[in-house]
Amino acid sequence: MELDLYFTPLQIQDELSLKDKTVIVVDVLRASTTISTALKNGARVIIPTASVENAVKYASTLEPGSFLLCGERGGKIIDGFDLGNSPLEYTEEKVKGKTLIYASTNGSVAITKTKYARYSIIGSFVNVSTVVKFAKENSDDILILCSGKFNRFCLEDAVCAGMIAFMLTKGKPKKKLKLSDSVTAAIKLYKFYGRNLLKMLQESEHGRFLTELGFEDDLKVCAEVDSIPVLPIYSDGVIKAV
Ligand code: MLT
Repeated sequence: MELDLYFTPLQIQDELSLKDKTVIVVDVLRASTTISTALKNGARVIIPTASVENAVKYASTLEPGSFLLCGERGGKIIDGFDLGNSPLEYTEEKVKGKTLIYASTNGSVAITKTKYARYSIIGSFVNVSTVVKFAKENSDDILILCSGKFNRFCLEDAVCAGMIAFMLTKGKPKKKLKLSDSVTAAIKLYKFYGRNLLKMLQESEHGRFLTELGFEDDLKVCAEVDSIPVLPIYSDGVIKAV
């Protein structure tokens, strides 16, 4: 197995280079967690966009009432949108049967960069085992892509990426693995922080920012390992639960 890990989407120099790879896109706080929550609660599809403008433009092509405009800027709901980016907002009552057009600051942008990948899977702590099982069974060439924060490293994505890498490689003979140094480093981070994921989220830069905004309960949702065993796959411009 060949396994690589990018700490930020800036490391993707050529989107077409992903075409034979399975990519696991990680945005623990909060895009990946929110997407899993929305799909668990019956959202039909999620359409990630790289900008707020694209989201609004896309919405103008759909029948009113059939979709919800979702996402955040600066962690808060975008003016005129239906939902922000707290997973707690994405209840069955609100999202069941709906198309969600979704623009977040980092996560949805990272996802759109993986459109050429063989498989693009959205992963976080809440669905980690489901994601790892699928990736293990379906690919020998895997990239874990952290969404990061404004193209910078962020702790929670790196720790989750390390957990995914640890689970993917566990039990495999070393000589059968081709691991990048970023994978080795992320596994160490996971081994250090994995004992208390909620504490790690609370200490992280973005976790502290969300707490200041009043979203401290989101951190608890995002720290719950395997609480939402869905498999969100991005293909042909839409994310669906497979
Ligand atoms: C993002 O995509 O940057 C995040 O999901 C931001 C957030 O926590 O709302």
